[in-house]
Amino acid sequence: MAARAALSSTLKAAVPSATRNLATSTAAVSGLAPPSPIDISKLKITKTTTPKKLPPPEELIFGQTFTDHMLTIEWNDKDGWLAPEITPFHNLSLDPSAIVLHYAFECFEGLKAYVDKDDKIRIFRPDRNMIRMNKSADRICLPTFDTETMLKLISDFVKLEKDFIPKKKGYSLYLRPTLIGTQAGLGVHIPTKALFYVIASPVGPYYPTGFKAVRLEATDYATRAWPGGTGDKKLGANYAPCVKPQREAAERGYQQNLWLFGPEGKVTEVGTMNVFFVFEDKATGKKELVTAPLDGTILEGVTRESILQLARERLDPKEWIVSERYCTIHEIIEREAKGELVEAFGSGTAAVVSPIKEIGFHDKNINVPLQPGKQTGPLTEQVAEWISQIQYGEIEHPWSFVISE
Ligand code: COI
Repeated sequence: MAARAALSSTLKAAVPSATRNLATSTAAVSGLAPPSPIDISKLKITKTTTPKKLPPPEELIFGQTFTDHMLTIEWNDKDGWLAPEITPFHNLSLDPSAIVLHYAFECFEGLKAYVDKDDKIRIFRPDRNMIRMNKSADRICLPTFDTETMLKLISDFVKLEKDFIPKKKGYSLYLRPTLIGTQAGLGVHIPTKALFYVIASPVGPYYPTGFKAVRLEATDYATRAWPGGTGDKKLGANYAPCVKPQREAAERGYQQNLWLFGPEGKVTEVGTMNVFFVFEDKATGKKELVTAPLDGTILEGVTRESILQLARERLDPKEWIVSERYCTIHEIIEREAKGELVEAFGSGTAAVVSPIKEIGFHDKNINVPLQPGKQTGPLTEQVAEWISQIQYGEIEHPWSFVISE
């Protein structure tokens, strides 16, 4: 109990009061019904008898290596959340008719833990992930949870797995909270049973090529998300249908695809990431950082939100405009022709930022400038550095939650 109280105060110390209120009052923020409580005092920990070692960081492939343990919490509609458990990493046992397997009752999150120079464990903005996960769960009628309690449980789990957090810049422990409907039966209805679990994977750069600018194919023959749909939620069901257009783009030599929407060709996202463009108005000399607005079709990316906030705080407003607005593929083509397309990059938890060097659209090829001898534009590089300084605790910032003493 003493350790738990200490954790709680460390978490609180790292979080400003405005964020803390957001993290603790789930119902007030998102209009969700109050969740059933999780009794953290009932946490049962069973340690593995066959501990593994962290492989050399250079050998890590994204999401292929897992730590020794996992956190699980079962839920049912009569008893609510049952006692949380940390157990050795294991296969799940599900009835073949389990509702997740047939009707995609599944949502997930991705967040990262880091070790700083003083050997403290830090997690980047986990409160945002917890809030978003509740919104995703609510959208598919899975149970929501108290975000602060869940964060404490995840912190206990990460502390147990500390030796799996690579101590190298660019490396981290990727956490994958997952929530599935487990009720057996083929009826389509609100699940009466669910399982929340967290697995953890030590990771390096998301792309095997590392921090290298990518070529995109703009996709207008398939749609990632649409008004009134679920594109703003982190549901597994949003991801599977996107892989075929990515495969087709790959067959034509592109690393990723750029998702367009509607007859105007609005640019929405890139692969599984949010996307940013930088334009420079030749007449005024002013630069504009542009990303799509949160209109219900765009994922509410934590990295996206962080980049927007840092850009608004740190870029000189005499030189910069920061816009949440749609740009179309046609605007990008026109502005490239005028020499006004300056930079482009994707943003997400896994890759953080991913510079873009080229976009193919029908028979056109749009070139995005990079700095001489580098794989990024200057703002892309700057933004990556701002975020990484916070993630690795190189500067103190309220977005970096210290979870260990
Ligand atoms: C992210 O980077 O935020 C993602 O969602 C990527 C993940 C699906 C691997």
